Amino acid sequence: MDFNEKYSGYLNEFNRALNSFCENLNCKPEILCESLKYSLALGGKRIRPVLMLAVGDLLGVDRSKLINFALAVELIHTYSLIHDDLPSMDDDDYRRGKASNHKVFGEGNAILAGDGLMNTAYSILFKECRKGAEYVSASEFICDCAGIYGMIAGQSADLLHENDSIHNENTLNFIYENKTGKLITAPVVVPSIICGGRCFSELKAFGRDLGYLFQVTDDILDVEGSFDDLGKSIGKDLKEGKYTSVELYGLDGSKLRADVVAERCKTILEGIDGDREFLIMFVNYVRNRKK
Ligand code: IPE
Ligand code: IPE
Ligand code: MG
Ligand code: MG
Ligand code: MG
Repeated sequence: MDFNEKYSGYLNEFNRALNSFCENLNCKPEILCESLKYSLALGGKRIRPVLMLAVGDLLGVDRSKLINFALAVELIHTYSLIHDDLPSMDDDDYRRGKASNHKVFGEGNAILAGDGLMNTAYSILFKECRKGAEYVSASEFICDCAGIYGMIAGQSADLLHENDSIHNENTLNFIYENKTGKLITAPVVVPSIICGGRCFSELKAFGRDLGYLFQVTDDILDVEGSFDDLGKSIGKDLKEGKYTSVELYGLDGSKLRADVVAERCKTILEGIDGDREFLIMFVNYVRNRKK
């Protein structure tokens, strides 16, 4: 199997849905519409939508049942990035290879763009709920992953522990599991919920570990990556006193942990019946990514 070709197939399918969503956006004033489209535009890796479609294939769930959930998750993720980059949070000037939303539209508009994307994601989920009980459960799962018991809790802890002088594993695990893990678990688990819960606990464990792996590699790339590959500034974690794997375990220790967690991800996948090849390659892609 050609991993890149298969990834592009999922990506193109998702981008078609996203483009059509953007073309139909007609909110006023114009600046609101422009700021939403600016951050949603090409540049993101779209790993969450790709994962959702790929797990859908593994479980035999029709893509048409998942595409709006994929859209909602990508909107929530994009809003989290806009807010994450604000001067009052990580103060980052670049995102997805372009100036951050607040650098172009100003802080107030960037806050509203994030709010607008979140609100629109929930509107998409409410519409999905009309389709039946499993769609309500999937929507609820996404909300929980994104909210105060999920991504927002992780972002709150990330801020709270900035500049801590002593680091410990439990705090790092809490930050990783919530700020990153939950929004990666959501797309991995939604296809299971839609087909009646097949492999629910395995996929939940897989999402959590893959989220951990994704954040360890994000922390490593903040030290070893390049602006050209990542499309965002590097060296910011140290500067902002962030609670990272590199701070706690060092670069080599972080790479070792990434290897261990990547193996765990693959072991979980091997326990699931079906064609797991793309997802196993996806784990290797996350482990070795440069962007
Ligand atoms: C960045 O997420 C934020 C983290 C959770 C580390 P991505 O690396 O998925 O960002 P995009 O969507 O590709 O820009
Ligand atoms: C961001 O983590 C996680 C969320 C946006 C929820 P980081 O702050 O490490 O992400 P980057 O490095 O800015 O992409
Ligand atoms: Mg952050
Ligand atoms: Mg950040
Ligand atoms: Mg980071």
